[in-house]
Amino acid sequence: MIVGVLKEARAGENRVAATPDTVGAIRRLGYGVVVDAGAGVAAGFTDDAFEEAGARIGEAVVADVVLGVNAPSTEQLDRVRAEATVIALFAPAFDPVMVEELGRRPFTALSMDAVPRISRAQSMDVLSSMANIAGYRAVVEAAHAFGRFFTGQVTAAGKVPPAKVLVAGAGVAGLAAIGAAGSLGAIVRATDPRPEVADQVRSLGGEYLAIESPETEVSATGYAKEMGDDYKAREAELYAAQCREVDIVVTTALIPGRPAPTLVTAEMVAAMKPGSVIVDMAAANGGNVVGTVAGEKVRTENGVTIIGYTDLAGRLPAQASQLYGTNLVNLLKLMTPDRDARLVLDWDDPVQRSITVVRKGETAWPPPPVQVSAAPAPAPAAAVAVPARPGKAPVTPARRFGAVAIAALVLFLAAGLAPAALLPHVTVFVLAIVIGYYVIGHVHHALHTPLMSVTNAISGIIVVGALLQIGRTSTAVTVLSSVAILLAGINVFGGFAVTRRMLAMFNRS
Ligand code: NAI
Repeated sequence: MIVGVLKEARAGENRVAATPDTVGAIRRLGYGVVVDAGAGVAAGFTDDAFEEAGARIGEAVVADVVLGVNAPSTEQLDRVRAEATVIALFAPAFDPVMVEELGRRPFTALSMDAVPRISRAQSMDVLSSMANIAGYRAVVEAAHAFGRFFTGQVTAAGKVPPAKVLVAGAGVAGLAAIGAAGSLGAIVRATDPRPEVADQVRSLGGEYLAIESPETEVSATGYAKEMGDDYKAREAELYAAQCREVDIVVTTALIPGRPAPTLVTAEMVAAMKPGSVIVDMAAANGGNVVGTVAGEKVRTENGVTIIGYTDLAGRLPAQASQLYGTNLVNLLKLMTPDRDARLVLDWDDPVQRSITVVRKGETAWPPPPVQVSAAPAPAPAAAVAVPARPGKAPVTPARRFGAVAIAALVLFLAAGLAPAALLPHVTVFVLAIVIGYYVIGHVHHALHTPLMSVTNAISGIIVVGALLQIGRTSTAVTVLSSVAILLAGINVFGGFAVTRRMLAMFNRS
């Protein structure tokens, strides 16, 4: 089969559905690749680069598998062959006219924006890969419109205070915005009705602003639900106070299947300082801010810039194309199980079923819901009363005390009966367990790997012990000591190598 890469028909679209890199990956699945002339120029990929990667420049729309970023134009759709499969961002959930239009045609249409957010589909999750880029770009746009430093400075000519940034919604785009604003030196705050994102916000250097309301609860799906009046009232107070104080607001709030919730009212905008900037990432979905114009940058009477661009990911077209192209390659891998250039649509696979808008001319939209479980919600309080599993009694304080007493007795007897030379060793061993348990138990989870890899240097003690044994008694002891030195050496050097690699990941240079 031949895979075709379309030149985007939508005006202003700079992305392309494949890059020379991803063309190579598609070819490794056995497919031939044909690319429309000039398809990648706006993203910085020349026709020559595609040809060097093994593609042919020709007519992509007549290929067996047609790849696009946006839905192809009507003229392009008219030319797609009956047995072909077209893969693009059709937005079927928001565009019933497009679903109807596709349903009138004989081919198969798959929509990448319908990939469910489940673990095994992460490598195909276009919405996340684009939202990540868009969140970063939102901050770049804000910094450009702000026209001042984000970072604070103390110079001989005076002090420059750091910019204050509020990010509303800490999903994929919000977290990317927090990271980008923080790395530019701003003071970043973020809020989200899902309290489980607090740690993620903090890990990116932001401050999580919790909205204390009985409605706030951990989400079992990774998405927020529509909040009630109590939450909305408290949320409005927080936004009103923050808008008076911060310089930049980036809004990303989204509740799937609903228009974007309004977070920032006209009064709040009017209370912002002149020169402040709002980037409303939800502009295409109705906007989180009153006064946003989708696709435009507007300036209010009090000098606040509201940016409602809906093409933020496309403003970094090379990387957006690379990530989108990789998402497509991962889908092609899933649909080409035998790596034999034959695309097979597996109807029983929830991911493939979810993205199918039309199968061989038959409309298949909407798909059945997929069970999404991003973070299991904690068990409700009632669950505490559930009896323990049969045969496993709950650990009461009395049982715990009994167990400690028995352990102490066993140790006492062992100490009394064992040879005198063993006692100091046992004491050190027990102390090491207790101290190790408390020390490591208080280290943050994120640091466990470097901690463990560095403590592998404890293997140095084994090396010393083994060196002292070599050649002292039998050959067997010498051989065993040599093996111990080899294994402990691997552990020591391997541990440091792992730590170096991990630390390098945090090295800005
Ligand atoms: P996401 O679903 O990962 O994150 C949305 C977040 O909003 C969730 O964490 C949710 O809990 C939070 N949220 C819901 N109600 C809220 C409220 N009342 N207050 C504060 N937070 C609330 O979505 P993702 O992928 O991060 O996308 C965010 C938005 O950015 C979407 O509207 C998406 O369409 C838009 N987007 C815009 C682009 C552009 O070019 N303008 C490009 C990519 C995405």
